[in-house]
Amino acid sequence: MRIVVCVSGGGTNLQAIIDAIDKGEIRNTEITGVFCNNKGAYALERAHKAGIETACLSPKDFEDRESFNKVFLETVDKFNPDLIVLAGFLVNIPATMVDRYKGRIINIHPSLIPSFCGVGYYGLKVHEAALKRGVKVSGATVHFVDAGTDTGPIILQKAVEVLQGDTPEVLQKRIMEQAEWVILPKAIDMIAAGRVKIADGKVIISEEQ
Ligand code: GRF
Repeated sequence: MRIVVCVSGGGTNLQAIIDAIDKGEIRNTEITGVFCNNKGAYALERAHKAGIETACLSPKDFEDRESFNKVFLETVDKFNPDLIVLAGFLVNIPATMVDRYKGRIINIHPSLIPSFCGVGYYGLKVHEAALKRGVKVSGATVHFVDAGTDTGPIILQKAVEVLQGDTPEVLQKRIMEQAEWVILPKAIDMIAAGRVKIADGKVIISEEQ
C-alpha cells in the first residue's frame, strides 16, 4: 500500500510510522511522499533522513486558498497514494481531495472523539480543554476524514489516564507516547491488510487472517 503522510510540525507521528514500517509492524506499506505546509517543520528533517521524497507548500505562498488547494491536490496525486495519512497536519483538506480520496484519508486526533475536537481543537488546545474540564481519562483517536472537522468514522481509539498535576505539555507527551504512536501505525497496518471497512458510517474491523 502506497501512503502519503501530511505533516505540519515535529513529525513524531510520521517517525512512528517510519519506525513501524522498518520494524515490520506495518506490513506491505511504503511512504511514497511527505507533504508539509511549513518549511521549518522538523518533520521534513525526519523524512529526509529516511530518504522519503517531500513536497512543501503553504497557503501563504498562494494568492488565494483555491489556488493552493489545486496545487496541493496535484502534488498529492503525483505521489499516487492508496491512503493519505494526516499526522499533525494543520491545513484544512479541500473538498476536492476528500471526494477524490473518499474513504482513503485518515487523521490522528489527540483526544477521545467526540470530546475536545472540531474547529479550534488542535495541538495543546486539546489538552488544555481536557484539563480545564477535569476529565480523568483522555487519549487519542484515528478516524477517517470526511467533509467535517474530526467527524469521520472512528477506526481506533486508545485511552490514557490523566494524572493529578498534569500540565497540557505533560499530558500531550503521555498521549503521544502511549496512544498516538501506537494506534496510528496499527490503523495503517490494518488498512493495508484490507481489514477495515465502513458500513453505515461505522468502521468494521475484520479479524487478522
Ligand atoms: C500531535 O499531538 C497530533 O495528535 C496532533 O498534532 C500533534 C503534533 O504531532 N494532530 P507530530 O509530532 O507533528 O506528529
